[in-house]
Amino acid sequence: MDKVLQLLMENGHISGEEISRRLGITRAAVWKQVERLREAGFVVEAAGKKGYRLASSPDSILPAYLQRGLSTQWAGQPPFLYHEEMTSTNTILKEAALQGASRGTVAICERQTMGKGRLGRGWDSVAGEGIYMSLLLRPNLHPSKAQLLTLAAAISMSMGVEEATGVSVAIKWPNDLVLKGKKVCGILLEMGADTDAIEYVVVGTGLNTGAGAYPKTLAEKAISLEEALGHKPHRADIIRAYLKAMEAMTAAVETRGMEGILPAYIERSCTLGQPVQVQGAQCFTGVAEAIDEEGALLIRDGDGTLRRVLAGDVSVRGVMGYV
Ligand code: BTN
Repeated sequence: MDKVLQLLMENGHISGEEISRRLGITRAAVWKQVERLREAGFVVEAAGKKGYRLASSPDSILPAYLQRGLSTQWAGQPPFLYHEEMTSTNTILKEAALQGASRGTVAICERQTMGKGRLGRGWDSVAGEGIYMSLLLRPNLHPSKAQLLTLAAAISMSMGVEEATGVSVAIKWPNDLVLKGKKVCGILLEMGADTDAIEYVVVGTGLNTGAGAYPKTLAEKAISLEEALGHKPHRADIIRAYLKAMEAMTAAVETRGMEGILPAYIERSCTLGQPVQVQGAQCFTGVAEAIDEEGALLIRDGDGTLRRVLAGDVSVRGVMGYV
């Protein structure tokens, strides 16, 4: 289906005969693939002798469609791991990374059966309602700086959403994307490293594009782009812009560390300068003052002590139900 789609996208009109010749499949197989594309929402016109023409595309995440117009050097370039259903794009891409997959490989699906969230939680994923995707990095970076890639991913998704839809999304430290005080995207990094080098990083992003992406019981804390825009955006536009931004942000982290991404992070942060509450191993409240060179949050507590939090749950007043 992907190869037929690619030919349709590359050609104004193309006959069934030509497709069958180029792909080495029968005319009946071409017809079947075209029918499958129609079922998936593509409008494929058949104009007699001139052949088929792709008249419009739906909100597709098929690799051939995604890669068209993708102007990256390595992020999202083939091979692309796509299946309608996956256990978890992070799990699948981690396996591929261990088998030697190259940087930039993307795993993407319509729905996950075992989607993973941060801190051991799960992640809901509903077909057609969100972007469930992982990107493989092989950064030239010390493992102690891995958190910076988390921040880089949040900046990149925020940029991607803004470029593709015009909607501004803020970042709640370290990497929740927030819209109207509610979570619109979560990011989960998984890493393989030895003591002084990172072998791979899998950057998983779950973005709610449609209002059906999350259960209604989470309506107090979650939101989708559809609710903000009044319509569902095309996921491919966001993915292409995100991948482009990820290339630039990864390079900035590799060459300049936190300094390379700090202005973009500060610009989007809804945590810095705000009253926060830290849960988990250490439990306290304070004001988020700064981010250090490893991406940790520096919080001034009630006693005036500056405390460092590298990972954990930090609630920001007024965001995601914390009052
Ligand atoms: C969070 O808890 O905020 C992080 C959620 C990350 C979800 C995404 S969906 C695609 C990728 N695959 C997974 O299993 N998880 C991430």
